[in-house]
Amino acid sequence: MPEKMQDLRDFIKILEKEGELKRITAEVDWNLELSHIAKLNEERKGPALLFENIKGYETPVFTSAYTKTSRVALALGMDKTSTIVDIARNWSDKVTEKLIPPEIVKNGPIFENTLEGDDVDLLKFPVPQLYPMDGGRYFGTTAYLITKDPETDFINLGVYRMQVLDNRSLGLQLLKGKDAEVMLNKYWEIGEPMPAAAVIGGSPLGFLVGSTLVPYGTSEYEVIGSLSGEPVEVIKSDLTGLLIPAQAEIVVEGFVDPNPENFREEGPFGEYTGYYSGKAKEEFPKPWLKVERILHRNKPIFWATTVGRPVTDTHMVQSINRTAELWTQLKRLGVPGIQSVYIPPESTGRFWAIISIKQNYPGHGRHAGMAVFATVLGNYGVKGVIVVDEDIRADDIERVLWAISVRYNPIEDTELIKKGRSTPLDPSLPMEKRYIVSRILIDATTPHEWERKPILIEMDKVTMEKVLERWDEFGL
Ligand SMILES: Cc1cc2nc3c(=O)[nH]c(=O)nc-3n(C[C@H](O)[C@H](O)[C@H](O)COP(=O)(O)O)c2cc1C
Repeated sequence: MPEKMQDLRDFIKILEKEGELKRITAEVDWNLELSHIAKLNEERKGPALLFENIKGYETPVFTSAYTKTSRVALALGMDKTSTIVDIARNWSDKVTEKLIPPEIVKNGPIFENTLEGDDVDLLKFPVPQLYPMDGGRYFGTTAYLITKDPETDFINLGVYRMQVLDNRSLGLQLLKGKDAEVMLNKYWEIGEPMPAAAVIGGSPLGFLVGSTLVPYGTSEYEVIGSLSGEPVEVIKSDLTGLLIPAQAEIVVEGFVDPNPENFREEGPFGEYTGYYSGKAKEEFPKPWLKVERILHRNKPIFWATTVGRPVTDTHMVQSINRTAELWTQLKRLGVPGIQSVYIPPESTGRFWAIISIKQNYPGHGRHAGMAVFATVLGNYGVKGVIVVDEDIRADDIERVLWAISVRYNPIEDTELIKKGRSTPLDPSLPMEKRYIVSRILIDATTPHEWERKPILIEMDKVTMEKVLERWDEFGL
């Protein structure tokens, strides 16, 4: 049974027990040095890191949590050897079966320390500067923003980058159509500031699930509950009325002015695409959280990720949660025959999807591929879908390339779509036209309707068994 985890500290303990954590006791600077150690470690597929000695600070910084699939599996209480497809299948099964709402409790460790008035200072924590051209220090890379729909009280958790603009202001990048942006527009319509809380820590799944594109109206709290098998313990904040995790490490609370005239310059930032996301002046100004109160536990742990070029934990997180959510949404659409789904981390965990299907009817490959673009998840910035037959697992890239080579005829088996929702962070698009992208569907299945199908070479079963029995004899 999975060990229950409400708390980042429990997760760190488990990682240590499993030999997946390294404590760095040497002094490290928050300014570039920390992120560069973490990034180089991530590129080498190293352990998660706990920096315990940050120059000028007492708070430790935890990084590289999810660089390896094994650590995501541990956070989800699964076997360490699980693959991304295994994890996504399990995730999709669980959320389809049952969502578990959060449980409101009266108190929790997050209220151990309260900073108000003149004591409010975001730089009390060792907020890192990640890359040389970043516009500043980023408090939010694993942090999730909690906001509430003013009409329905639906609570959303979203991972959005958050820059320290000054000691009491947190710049927010809420891209168009993201849940918190939709909510902010509603507050603008009713002429009220939006209450918001930026959270670091709590369940290790907060970061993983907070960056999942679940349809508007499904609370990520319920998804975390479903995946961990227990409700997230939350406290109703007396300041904002929001439900905040009782075991979080740090919660920054305040209000966001929805008036675009009061937005501020934010960025640039070394994004997950491997490029800086534009120059601050050329980019759109951003809303920001006016911080009124900071809550933190005794000896809080600051959690960061390096973002930047693939593959780091950002790409792993995106790959896993998008694979799982795409799979779930395809199931809900009732597309038959889906065997496996995969959005590779190397595609930054978002731009390409691979679907394996067992065909039941002519045009089934096209149906599955087009369905990807029709889902809320696949519609957002997925540029390419590759559909393969059931004999190939979606994550078996060698076989997928083989299928594209021998089962795919470009003129017959390609569908192009000119216009689809994109992310404005895509560097393949011109800066001023980044909300639209074209899409390609590569149907690398053997057409169901062909009466004369190519004959696939299979080894003779009896001979193969005999050979395997004698394997040791051959000294191979
Ligand atoms: C490390 C990381 C940073 C992210 N930064 C942003 C961001 O700055 N803005 C944004 O809109 N989405 C960002 N995302 C993607 C969102 O988390 C994702 O689209 C999620 O679905 C947003 O939540 P929502 O669906 O509740 O709006 C980031 C994801 C990760 C993993």
